[in-house]
Amino acid sequence: MKKLWRLFPLVFVALLVLSGGGIFGFGWRAGGNGLALAQPSDLESKKIVPFVPTPQDVVERMLEIAQVKKGDVVYDLGSGDGRIVITAAKKYGVKAVGFEIDPDLLRQSRESIHKEKLEHLAEIRGQDILTVDLSPATVVTMYLLPEVNLRLRPNVLRQLKPGSRVVSHDFDMGDWKPLKVEHIKDSSGWDHTIYLWRIEKKAGNRDYR
Ligand SMILES: C[S@@+](CC[C@H](N)C(=O)[O-])C[C@H]1O[C@@H](n2cnc3c(N)ncnc32)[C@H](O)[C@@H]1O
Repeated sequence: MKKLWRLFPLVFVALLVLSGGGIFGFGWRAGGNGLALAQPSDLESKKIVPFVPTPQDVVERMLEIAQVKKGDVVYDLGSGDGRIVITAAKKYGVKAVGFEIDPDLLRQSRESIHKEKLEHLAEIRGQDILTVDLSPATVVTMYLLPEVNLRLRPNVLRQLKPGSRVVSHDFDMGDWKPLKVEHIKDSSGWDHTIYLWRIEKKAGNRDYR
């Protein structure tokens, strides 16, 4: 019996490792069948861009450059505090959907939509931008990073309908030639670049410019 007790620390550590910390109510595994709740470690691995808001005057210009009009569906990938989604819904009366993975920003942006009474037009989904089906969107906005834009290119190309516009704050899409590049200063005097692409053809030899 004493011998068995000497094995206790080893068994304990083995259980701890095998459960991914789950026996103490926390976890460090990225996946797993039973532990579906996103733990901070999951979040860190999925959060591929930090939160830096687009200044409001740049938001307004991005939507103008995209020529948002009635009937458009605007998707903001990595929607932060929801300012692009809210501006699109409030100013243009269009359906606007943001995708955000940070729980604090999710809460904050949903509260703002509620305060603005825009729930009938605007919504924020807690979803990884790399898994979003872009096909319902006619305008996609983003303020991400160059390598993240590149990772999104296959989905943009395969899923967006002809005539859809993609607008990116500060970062291009690699060798995709933009239809328009505009350099502007925000109200604090900081420089920003806005890129616009338009999807021109249906699948197959699909084009953009
Ligand atoms: C630079 S901020 C842009 C915020 C907003 N679009 C704007 O222009 O003001 C990027 C946002 O992407 C979010 N983000 C990062 N990785 C993400 C992911 N994998 N899925 C969804 N959102 C993500 C961040 O939490 C952050 O709020």
